[in-house]
Amino acid sequence: MEFNTKTESAEACKADCLAIGVFEDQGLSASARSLDRACGGALRKAIASGDMKGKRGTLVVLRNLHGVASARIALAGLGKAGEFGEKAFAEAVAMTVRGCGDGVSTLAFCAADWKVAGRSESASLRALVGAARATRFRTDELKSQRDATAARGNAARLRVTWLTGKRDRQIDRALREGVAIANGVEFAKRLGNLPANVCTPQFLAAQARKMGREWGLNVQALERRQIAALGMGSFLSVTNGSQQAPRLIVLRYRGRRGAGFTDPIALVGKGITFDSGGISLKPGAQMDEMKFDMCGAAAVLGTMRAIAELKPRINVIGVVPACENLPSGSATKPGDIVTSMSGQTIEVLNTDAEGRLILCDALTYVQRYRPAAIVDIATLTGACIVALGNVHSGLFSRDDALAGEILKAGEAIGDTAWRMPVDEEYQEQLKSNFADMANIGIPGNAGAVTAACFLARFVKDQRWAHLDIAGTAFRGGAAKGATGRPVPLLTQFLLSRAD
Ligand code: BES
Ligand code: MN
Ligand code: ZN
Repeated sequence: MEFNTKTESAEACKADCLAIGVFEDQGLSASARSLDRACGGALRKAIASGDMKGKRGTLVVLRNLHGVASARIALAGLGKAGEFGEKAFAEAVAMTVRGCGDGVSTLAFCAADWKVAGRSESASLRALVGAARATRFRTDELKSQRDATAARGNAARLRVTWLTGKRDRQIDRALREGVAIANGVEFAKRLGNLPANVCTPQFLAAQARKMGREWGLNVQALERRQIAALGMGSFLSVTNGSQQAPRLIVLRYRGRRGAGFTDPIALVGKGITFDSGGISLKPGAQMDEMKFDMCGAAAVLGTMRAIAELKPRINVIGVVPACENLPSGSATKPGDIVTSMSGQTIEVLNTDAEGRLILCDALTYVQRYRPAAIVDIATLTGACIVALGNVHSGLFSRDDALAGEILKAGEAIGDTAWRMPVDEEYQEQLKSNFADMANIGIPGNAGAVTAACFLARFVKDQRWAHLDIAGTAFRGGAAKGATGRPVPLLTQFLLSRAD
């Protein structure tokens, strides 16, 4: 799918389909009125006849109109103008891309008629790219035959045009960012959706290397021997029951001028390619969804890809500890005590609280790069889903400025987070009689917070934030699949840092 912008009028635009948004509670825009005059009032007639009332989720396609260069006009109902936010916009774009007709290979959206409440035109354009691309995302990679609906029509060839009044640098930039972020989101979704027998730690490392070659990133993947030499006893304890070799993947993007790799922003992503719970085995229902337990890693890789494409003037380091959490005769047992790279010892009371065990060593490791800030991203706790559902990612940080930046980035790009506490008082729960700390708190008691508090013990004196994406990184049920979140939030955060 390709995207471009044009400044011509709606009636002069020559596309297979021209998409006009119609609000329930507003008349046609000046641009749509002019289009309507050109075609002898066909738009007004469609509205007056009751065919198009502007109701959200409705679409009417008119064909062969005189005086209009495009072959079709799609009238898309957008609902009430005041309620037309980012989500409604994305839904309406998806509906139009899907419903405009299989014969359409060029589709133009008229900016004047697709005004998102409270958003700039460039923010809308960026959202358009994301929403349009999402409609063509395919999950049939491992089916013996391609899905008929996905393969239908001009899927690959669709060219989407944004008809804008003002062709300026902001609009061009929004388009570029929209495409790069969509590329990053798709990369993350694909990795997230791949099953654990394909997407192993080694596979993740190979994908990171390949992506790094294509986009000019420096990528290293450390093997077990090297991970052991670093002293990552906590990380390696999670791999004890698995036949799959672990990897510590390190990606570097250098965008700052001047010598050296200085003051990078560090992204650390949980890469559990399958989380069975280990000896503290999970129940069977929906256990397949634990293939998504590497979505934090996928978000780091997707964000690095987007950044490498956009080339902002910052340095970024991505660190992904990747392994499997399985039970076996050699697996870590409840009560085992392990020594982290930081030297702190951990009593593993529950082998299913494994994300923090791999992240703590990655957090210690990344500090050797003297990062300006560290953000870790993890499908860390079921408790975070209980707290926030599938709407916001959980954001934990003791640094108000950093937390504010991340919240703002999420708002700006419609990939939101909600701040949660990391108060010292919760640390109480992590006390152990036998080691420096336990790896779990009191069951059923602020589980997302105590997980963050555990991580906080490994980032003392660092600017650090933690995103718990257990509820936002993937969906279950009929729409099962990775969402690519929070690639947009992370990319926006990094871009805003470069400005
Ligand atoms: N990967 C899970 C968290 C999770 C659960 C993510 C559901 C997405 C959907 C994590 O490793 C885990 O098992 N956490 C435990 C922690 C508990 C043992 C303290 C949990 O949330 O139950
Ligand atoms: Mn677990
Ligand atoms: Zn897990």
